[in-house]
Amino acid sequence: MSDHSQEAGQAWSGRFSEPVAELVKRYTASVFFDRRLWRQDIQGSLAHAKMLARQGILSNEDLAAIERGMGEIAAEIERGEFAWQLDAEDVHLNIEKRLTALIGEAGKRLHTGRSRNDQVATDIRLWLREAIDTITGLLKNLIRALLDLAEAHAATPMPGFTHLQVAQPVTFGHHLLAYVEMFARDGERFADCRKRVNRLPLGAAALAGTTFPIDRDFVARELGFDGLCENSLDAVSDRDFAIEFTAAASLVMVHLSRFSEELILWMNPRLGFIDLADRFCTGSSIMPQKKNPDVPELARGKSGRVFGHLVGLLTLMKGQPLAYNKDNQEDKEPLFDTADTVIDSLRIFADLVPGIRVKADAMAAALRQGYATATDLADYLVKKGLPFRDAHEAVARAVRLAEAKGCDLAELSLSELQAFSPLIAADVYEVLTVAGALAARDHIGGTAPAQVQAAIARWREKL
Ligand code: ARG
Repeated sequence: MSDHSQEAGQAWSGRFSEPVAELVKRYTASVFFDRRLWRQDIQGSLAHAKMLARQGILSNEDLAAIERGMGEIAAEIERGEFAWQLDAEDVHLNIEKRLTALIGEAGKRLHTGRSRNDQVATDIRLWLREAIDTITGLLKNLIRALLDLAEAHAATPMPGFTHLQVAQPVTFGHHLLAYVEMFARDGERFADCRKRVNRLPLGAAALAGTTFPIDRDFVARELGFDGLCENSLDAVSDRDFAIEFTAAASLVMVHLSRFSEELILWMNPRLGFIDLADRFCTGSSIMPQKKNPDVPELARGKSGRVFGHLVGLLTLMKGQPLAYNKDNQEDKEPLFDTADTVIDSLRIFADLVPGIRVKADAMAAALRQGYATATDLADYLVKKGLPFRDAHEAVARAVRLAEAKGCDLAELSLSELQAFSPLIAADVYEVLTVAGALAARDHIGGTAPAQVQAAIARWREKL
């Protein structure tokens, strides 16, 4: 922090008879974190200035000076030469002060018909809109990576689990497509949230609107907003759009965390279903044999901070009377961290998925140990006329025998099976095979390899 000596004093200092205490200054300043909004702040100011000039509120010479000054400031910030000042409190006042230092009087006219209250709300919305677009693109990349892996394993059998116990065979491709559905819904949620983010608060001024003849529609068009915040009090006050963003981000993290948990389980040698590429794992400083799935573990862990930010923002909002309160300054760090966490996590997962090495033999071996085709045997008996409940009972007894003998259902002899139901014939072995069980679930949403292929084709079409 250094001083532009020509800009001593606060933007509001005229009213006060003693300077703000040093600690209070640091406590209330936000420039250390909200300087991240500098691009949006300049973008918003330029649109505002252009509108003021069109409306005859600002002269064209002043507008030209503001545009030149802002260009210079942007270049300074980009070069890392901008002297951010704690004394100037936040990103808005830092930029405005520098502008006035550079261009004089015209810089002081920029804030006509505007307040930092509608200014900051505009900046955050512009920033969030960009974050949403980045996240939407990254979700698509991850979905594409999952589709590629699913395609390669559209017919690779693995145990499907309920209660983490082997339940029925599914294909690995089908399993991955479940995550495609989740991440696609995340994309829909962000698209929906974007509609409410993308409205212009500017023009609300401090809280009640302004006495100047402004043209809000023009500013909205300039900044690419889809519409206006239509009540000035609401415009400067509510951050529900930011809460929605964090809620959508939380669900992305839930999905990444669940996927992570599975990757970690699958990588455990007891299951040994997959291996992760070395570049996503780390070793142990003491145990030379270790290869730890750090990236999924961290993603699972980082979900916690995003959920925390969601609760933080809800709490930040809930007690605030209309309209703007300084509480709202606390919205930025959680938002920035939420976006950073989700963006980094999605980036790394889109890269991690293609590096998953699938161990189909281990998946098949696990299937053989879990009586995964028991439901198929029950369905077989139902198709031969037995009521489902009786079929269920007959198969349960067959499983007990297989368990006692230490073999799979398909390894019981025909006469052994017939002891449980005379309806069983030699064709039973077709349904007791994994391939038969998979192929039989042949409808939209089912695990039959042909359905998995068709689902992948539909997703590719949609993308
Ligand atoms: N730094 C403030 C924020 O982030 C900007 C708005 C301040 N407005 C005010 N009247 N103090 O919310």
